[in-house]
Amino acid sequence: MSEIRLKTDAELEKMRQAGKLAAQVLEYVGQYVAPGVSTGYLNRLAEEFTLSHGAVSAPLNYNGFPQSICTSVNQVVCHGIPSDKHILKSGDIINIDITVILDGFHGDTSATYCVGEVSEKARLLVEHTEKAMYKGIKAIKPGAYLSDAGKAIEKYVRKFGYSIVREYGGHGIGRAFHEPPQVFHHYTPENRIVLKKGMIFTIEPMINMGRNWRVTTSREDGWTVTTIDGSLSAQFEHTVAVVDSGVEILTKV
Ligand code: MF3
Ligand code: CO
Ligand code: CO
Repeated sequence: MSEIRLKTDAELEKMRQAGKLAAQVLEYVGQYVAPGVSTGYLNRLAEEFTLSHGAVSAPLNYNGFPQSICTSVNQVVCHGIPSDKHILKSGDIINIDITVILDGFHGDTSATYCVGEVSEKARLLVEHTEKAMYKGIKAIKPGAYLSDAGKAIEKYVRKFGYSIVREYGGHGIGRAFHEPPQVFHHYTPENRIVLKKGMIFTIEPMINMGRNWRVTTSREDGWTVTTIDGSLSAQFEHTVAVVDSGVEILTKV
């Protein structure tokens, strides 16, 4: 628990602009996902698009992260590093996570794409994960608890036998990439933060196909997070604002 600074209407407007651009970058790069394409190429496309729209890529050099976007393939949960050596193949699933800084404000969004023909199990994981994100988003409104989002996601995901990653979650966002509050995507009843107009944070559930929610970080690159059991993991992310009428998704084109 800590100070969550509420955004003013003027700041919300800036966040709308940043969110829109992040969504545009994601939509643009997503069109290029195909067998034979490298994650390094997707990274360059995102970087060029972002710069040409007057923004910068937030991940680049963030705590030493070496690229402009995260590309997390199959059992990689998050923070995958794009590389020209990593060529996508039919059957893969890939999460592309875009964060831009536009005029000082961050927009953060991600989606998981199916490459070529994927197994039905993998396709369902991706579809259910997107739906889970929207279940979480729908729980957000002034007066609700932040934990209602995780509660809704957990309720939805449980029936499929998947697990919800606990070590990484959503986050407040604004002039900073990551700021309070921390957002859990599983139910944490002790986390009684009451939502107020002006709060802006991400909802970004990482859902593992296996029953084990645990993850491990690569000792070689210090970034790549994978499921501990090697099972597939999918993720979707939106940046959202608490508004009088409920919730507004900022990362839409
Ligand atoms: N975009 C990620 C998130 O949703 C954070 C990436 S941090 C990086 O919070 F350093 F790996 F880029
Ligand atoms: Co995020
Ligand atoms: Co992100």
